[in-house]
Amino acid sequence: MEFYDVVNSRKTVRDLTDEAIPDDVLKRILSAAFKAPTNDHLRDWHFIIVTDKKVAAKLLELIPKGISPEDMDALIKDWDLNDHLQQECYRSAVPKQYRMLFCASAIIIPLLKEKTDILHPGNVSHLNGFASIWCSIENLFLAATAEGYGCNLRIPLGNEAEHAKEVLEFPDGYFMPCFIGIGKPSDENAPIKQKEIDIDERIHLNRF
Ligand SMILES: Cc1cc2nc3c(=O)[nH]c(=O)nc-3n(C[C@H](O)[C@H](O)[C@H](O)COP(=O)(O)O)c2cc1C
Repeated sequence: MEFYDVVNSRKTVRDLTDEAIPDDVLKRILSAAFKAPTNDHLRDWHFIIVTDKKVAAKLLELIPKGISPEDMDALIKDWDLNDHLQQECYRSAVPKQYRMLFCASAIIIPLLKEKTDILHPGNVSHLNGFASIWCSIENLFLAATAEGYGCNLRIPLGNEAEHAKEVLEFPDGYFMPCFIGIGKPSDENAPIKQKEIDIDERIHLNRF
């Protein structure tokens, strides 16, 4: 796929099938992740691939399997989501948080070696390791798109990351930025309309 076709067609896919991904394809996708820029030249990253449904069920057991319409309305209010399109995105995404991962071909858990306190950074450079792994995650998403796969992600809430650490037995000192679901888009998959951006209004020459 041509580079700009990949960039333009990457979308978050929350309706996936769990058809197995061939090992060589998964390896290409993950090797693209390791080509991302890195703050300290070390790329101290690991990726745990979960394909065993029993492990997946245990890993995801703290994630709610759905949300009632009343709770969804309350969430929209609590999070102060005033934009109509944004509300629609949340209304579509929130009920799928469990199944978008459980029904995927694989759940990928990226890990970075935590050398600074990411949750209490002293200055912005303390977030460099965190920023770098997000570069690798985007590379992974783009490579998956180029290979005909879709990805979604969830930021761990509450104790979900601590629980993942116990289930997957990753060592102390590693930080998990998100859960990633990867698989072939299912027949139910329909892109969610996103806010259109007029880039001419966002690009500034020489001054804002
Ligand atoms: C930092 C970050 C956090 C996100 N957190 C979640 C999440 O917890 N759950 C989820 O379903 N999607 C999550 N997303 C995906 C966004 O909802 C999605 O990227 C956005 O709606 C734009 O849609 P697109 O990816 O299809 O262009 C996150 C994306 C980013 C970059």
